[in-house]
Amino acid sequence: MKRLTVGSMFAGIGGIDIGFEQAGFKVKWANEFNTKSCETFRNYENFRDIKLFEKDVHDLKTCEVESVDIITSGFPCQAFSVAGYRQGFDDEKGRGNLFFETARFINDLKPKAYLLENVRNLAGHDNGKTLEVIKYNLVDKLGYSFIPFILNSKDYGNIPQTRERIYIVGFRNEADIDYDYDKKELNSESATRSFEIPDPIPLEKNIHDCIYHKKQDEKYYYKKEHQYYPILESEMKRRDTIYQWRRVYVRENKSNLCPTLTANMGAGGHNVPLIIDDYGIRKLTPKECLNFQGYPENYHFPEKMANSHSYMQAGNSVVIPVIKRIANAIREALNAQ
Ligand SMILES: C[S@@+](CC[C@H](N)C(=O)[O-])C[C@H]1O[C@@H](n2cnc3c(N)ncnc32)[C@H](O)[C@@H]1O
Repeated sequence: MKRLTVGSMFAGIGGIDIGFEQAGFKVKWANEFNTKSCETFRNYENFRDIKLFEKDVHDLKTCEVESVDIITSGFPCQAFSVAGYRQGFDDEKGRGNLFFETARFINDLKPKAYLLENVRNLAGHDNGKTLEVIKYNLVDKLGYSFIPFILNSKDYGNIPQTRERIYIVGFRNEADIDYDYDKKELNSESATRSFEIPDPIPLEKNIHDCIYHKKQDEKYYYKKEHQYYPILESEMKRRDTIYQWRRVYVRENKSNLCPTLTANMGAGGHNVPLIIDDYGIRKLTPKECLNFQGYPENYHFPEKMANSHSYMQAGNSVVIPVIKRIANAIREALNAQ
């Protein structure tokens, strides 16, 4: 059967792309303007045949890209996240407006479906008005249906990371069809009604499935002379727990779960989660952060990539098994039509 095709906006290092490819889709093109993220994207051997447009999305014309069945967009979330400035569409730096770039591509390319991914806080931003604006554009202006749902990776991806994200899926020419969250009318003629939000699955992996147990590079370990070493040593006792340094105290997370990985892990490394292993107290390595996002074993950062970039790229990404499950659900809904 012909593979459904994907165009990937705000692709980062390609987490959404891998999820869709694993679900049997073919990613045709991707857009990302960060040079370092593009280097990492290109370093992945399975991506060699994806056309990567390395430029600001505002400078990418829709006539430059191939038309595709699905548009995916993990548009920048700083403007919407609690950690950011909470400015939404009025974000001075214009970051909030990047949703409208996604809308431009959907309008011009008219894909069969779209997937948006963002921080959970998008749902409640500005008392729900931000989400209303997004909905208005996709439904009233572009004629797509609108199915928002929030999934936590630990419950939906068999990955031991707490990561709550909002996903929004919609199907072409179905603006008048509301999603039936109670699933009373499955398998009807419409893709929207056929779409099934993934169900929770058991978490069978624990943090030790994502952490390497042999000694890691010295640079990841805290030296005894480090000013925080005494407090870290006195607080960090458990091997089944991931810790975080919080300026004046050490935060102990729920056992066997990694806290949400964030892009600001890249800024000086302060927010990188900490563990205790046979050799001392150390940060998770960038590759381990990818493991906590469900990346395949053969995905690597380029050798010369600075850790600050690798951590930021990993923190910005997605939990691939969750994306794969959503991608499968989109395919099944389209096939059911
Ligand atoms: C939240 S991240 C998405 C990460 C991606 N889902 C992944 O798996 O790596 C948003 C991405 O949008 C990119 N971006 C931000 N503004 C952009 C612009 N104007 N044009 C193109 N890309 C942009 C950022 O560099 C960042 O990589």
